[in-house]
Amino acid sequence: VPVKVYPNQEVASVDVARRIAAIIKEKQGRGETAVLGLATGATPIKVYRELVRLHREEGLSFKNVVSFNLDEYYPMKPDADQSYVTFMNKHLFDHVDIPRENINIPDGTLPEDAVHAFCEAYEQKISALGGIDIQLLGIGRTGHIGFNEPGSAPNSGTRLVILDDLTRRDASRDFGGKENVPTKAITMGVGTIFKAKEIILMAWNEKKAEIVKKAVEGEISSDIPATYLQLSDHVEFVLDEDAASHLT
Ligand code: F6R
Repeated sequence: VPVKVYPNQEVASVDVARRIAAIIKEKQGRGETAVLGLATGATPIKVYRELVRLHREEGLSFKNVVSFNLDEYYPMKPDADQSYVTFMNKHLFDHVDIPRENINIPDGTLPEDAVHAFCEAYEQKISALGGIDIQLLGIGRTGHIGFNEPGSAPNSGTRLVILDDLTRRDASRDFGGKENVPTKAITMGVGTIFKAKEIILMAWNEKKAEIVKKAVEGEISSDIPATYLQLSDHVEFVLDEDAASHLT
């Protein structure tokens, strides 16, 4: 798996943002839509900050961008502080010119019997646009990508999943206690992620070093869904020195 190590997450994030901007502009030049696969959490925040800067200071337009977020807690109201809708608005969408109707985030308000049809439609919408041009990923300490927790199948699609206990513990600060963290989420599947034309998994800090080592060097197994990325020929791991520090 190609791994690129940067001195720190600031430099890495600026580089990733530039790659996204290049795709947006290239598509603009051809009158086409750029389809972005987006992640939430602490990891991509500086990428979004740089994209906002490129919009404000260098005229980068998001008019031709359609975005699909990886996941959302379930159940979750979009206007809740912890929703991924709130997160994306705060860090990116409120500050750029992306048309609101071009934003797609799994719907945490659906009744459970409507989730399956929603997930199928999410997949179909991505396909109808020609697929995701560039997919951003973080990695959870369980080895999840999106919310594909241990046990997820390599060909899994968008679906309702049960969150791992460690994932809920890691989210407990945002929710003021683990008991307040939803037990489920809607996530794109490993198979959905794999169809993207380019995949960038980012990880920063020492606390990700162990799981990054397993993802990059470990045996491919559903125990660590991120190991499936070793099977892709268009994935890159973008790391800071601390996250890369356990790699041999
Ligand atoms: C978020 C997502 C998750 C996170 C992962 C790492 O949309 O899909 O897989 O990328 O949990 O989270 P942070 O970046 O907060 O360490």
